[in-house]
Amino acid sequence: MSNKLQNYIYLDHAATTPVLPEVAKVINECLVKYFGNASEIHLPGREAKKIIEKSRHMIASIMGASDGEIIFTGSGTESNNLAIFGTAEANIKKGNHIITSEIEHPAAAIPFKMLAKRGFKVTFVPVDRFGMVDASDIKKALSKKTILVSVMHANNIVGTVQPIEEIGAILKQEGILFHTDAVQTFCNLKTGVNRLGVDMLSLSAHKIYGPKGVGALYIRKGTKIMPYIYGGGQEKGRRSGTENTAGIAGLAKAAQIAAAGLEDKIKYLTDMREYIKNSVLARIDDVLFNGHPEKRLPGNCNFSFRFIEGEAMVLRLDAAGVAVSSGSACSTSSTKPSHTLVSMGLTKEDAAGSLRITHGFENTYSQVDYFLENLEKTVTDLRKISPLKKGQ
Ligand SMILES: Cc1ncc(COP(=O)(O)O)c(C=O)c1O
Repeated sequence: MSNKLQNYIYLDHAATTPVLPEVAKVINECLVKYFGNASEIHLPGREAKKIIEKSRHMIASIMGASDGEIIFTGSGTESNNLAIFGTAEANIKKGNHIITSEIEHPAAAIPFKMLAKRGFKVTFVPVDRFGMVDASDIKKALSKKTILVSVMHANNIVGTVQPIEEIGAILKQEGILFHTDAVQTFCNLKTGVNRLGVDMLSLSAHKIYGPKGVGALYIRKGTKIMPYIYGGGQEKGRRSGTENTAGIAGLAKAAQIAAAGLEDKIKYLTDMREYIKNSVLARIDDVLFNGHPEKRLPGNCNFSFRFIEGEAMVLRLDAAGVAVSSGSACSTSSTKPSHTLVSMGLTKEDAAGSLRITHGFENTYSQVDYFLENLEKTVTDLRKISPLKKGQ
């Protein structure tokens, strides 16, 4: 294996995070020692089941849920698909109207588009220039046929944190199911399900220093939902497939570590975010800071650098040994402008010039300073050769 990554500076935590050594240790131990199939009644099976149930309890406690309300899945994407298709199918007799926002991650947006193709009526509520949904727009869109509302907790591109509690309170009064995609916020912000007022909440391990390919869905007791994957009836019949014991244990360990240090992490990341933001705005001209100034993920900065393209910046910074992103890195390698930025009202050019910097608690200020130096140089160099110069 090459050691090219050794001194590389990683500032793309919204795409994924490194796995903590303590988490890797738990995963490895599970893979080797607790390999049993949790559905079997012999000792190896029982030991695997014990680990899964302990992990379920850890995840449930962090969000103020009971153990029976947590279903393990194969990803945040799968959690969203189960919540969306599962409740749409289970509640079709009540109505066929669903409400969501214009800026959901493709892991929710595409399922909604599929439902629209299958005859559901889907309302996509707009956002303001900060990427914020207005709770009163959700209220106005409600109809007698509305069966589900789904709004992400925080946006993965610009980090704007949505008024989930406010929307939750409205929907509770109306008795309408409420799902939130908390993949960017679980263990990065507080995500108590009762405080948020949600009936379903999706999360993923790889955004919190856990492994890729494991997630969970909180489903409030009494919620009508159909399975999405059928088979051996694991996870109380809601998600068939032999459980990924090692991945689940890794998710729980990562969540336990993140939840224990949450306040400190939020403070460290927020201070670093303000430092990055203020430094970029002071050192570089013709820059927009995208997203909400305060109500945003502590570890997210998103800028639009005029006259140049995000993709070119990402490649140059990569060559200098820094990872950042020009859009939704965990969707595809599409060069289309981010739908989130377009919905916020950015011009196509400003959306194309966007750069997302998502730092983590292991990043140091000297790493950030190295990034800032190289960013300034990158922008200057690219602007020199850009056909879109100022005033043209
Ligand atoms: C907001 C949001 N939802 C869902 C997902 C998908 O999660 P996963 O990669 O675990 O499928 C992501 C991944 O970036 C995300 O940011």
